[in-house]
Amino acid sequence: MNYTMNKENLGTNKVSWLNYYDKIEVLSAEDEIYEGLRAEKKFISPKYFYNELGSELFEQITHLKEYYPSRTEKKLLAEVAPLLSIDFNGINIMELGSGDSSKITILLEHLSSETLASIHYYPMDISFSAIEKAVKQIEADFTLKAITAIVADFITQLKFVPKIKNRLFCFFGSTIGNLNVQERNLFLQELALIMEPGDYLLIGMDNVKNKSVLEAAYNDSMGITADFNKNILSVCNKIVGTHFNTEDFDHYAFYNEDEARIEMHLRANKDINTHIKESEETLFIRKGNTIHTENSHKFSLKHIESMASTANLQIKQIFQDEKKWFSLVLFTK
Ligand code: SAH
Ligand code: AVI
Repeated sequence: MNYTMNKENLGTNKVSWLNYYDKIEVLSAEDEIYEGLRAEKKFISPKYFYNELGSELFEQITHLKEYYPSRTEKKLLAEVAPLLSIDFNGINIMELGSGDSSKITILLEHLSSETLASIHYYPMDISFSAIEKAVKQIEADFTLKAITAIVADFITQLKFVPKIKNRLFCFFGSTIGNLNVQERNLFLQELALIMEPGDYLLIGMDNVKNKSVLEAAYNDSMGITADFNKNILSVCNKIVGTHFNTEDFDHYAFYNEDEARIEMHLRANKDINTHIKESEETLFIRKGNTIHTENSHKFSLKHIESMASTANLQIKQIFQDEKKWFSLVLFTK
């Protein structure tokens, strides 16, 4: 099967697309969601937040006054861009979970037009709509050597990252915090295996901090995070044919200090009975019980060191903002 497609509507012919999203790896989306909903402690993977509306809601979250991670990381990136020990000439930037590509834009803004013209940018995201919008913007703002957009799952489909020399892997937004510890270790080990000597890996991580700051960031006063959380129910209805109503669930987000993570759940505000597509099986959720939709781990220097040793990577540079709220860590193989 050929997963390559060309999008004529995207302007210059330097842009190409690789779409692996519908290629089933371990479990189909349907089976994966089904498994989580049947479990006693119900869960849905946070990767299912990001349909078109979910990607849009996340972008709105990044502009909220309570959601400090995006603006803190952007400010830090702008400050450290000239200090990074990376030779950007001729580099291939592979950005995992690139979303709106607003973070890479900050790095690109610091480079000369000659350097930009030598760069090949590979945004990789599960959300087609997010990459499509981001690529249009990058094309309008920069003249790069080429852009190859990859629609793929960075957990199960890292093998589709092009095997070429001279790569900078970027993983911004503290999206690494959305993986559980086991997924994170496997992900880093797999990434380290893919990396060649001379490649770089730049990761943005949200740090452990005051509980009230953390909890406010995930319980914003405008209710956008609640909408983002509840939108996963619509994704679920579409993929597995449940009939969840968003009004039957409340957004519930709190800091779990023992695990150093924000947990997001959807808590049923009444007893809920629904079916799963084409199955006689009834799904029952008792009032007060929750579906766990996201973990957002927060990091300390200890975690960063342990990530490096788990994956056998070297820490080349660590940057933090003055409040030490966010870290940008540059690893090499
Ligand atoms: N890097 C951006 C976006 C962060 S939001 C920023 O810093 O603002 C997380 C992004 O990761 C979303 O765009 C989402 O679609 C993507 N994503 C989440 N899980 C993914 C997965 N398993 N594979 C690929 N992309 C994923
Ligand atoms: C993408 N990710 C790092 C965000 C986070 O903070 O964990 C997603 C998010 N969830 C709620 N608000 C934002």
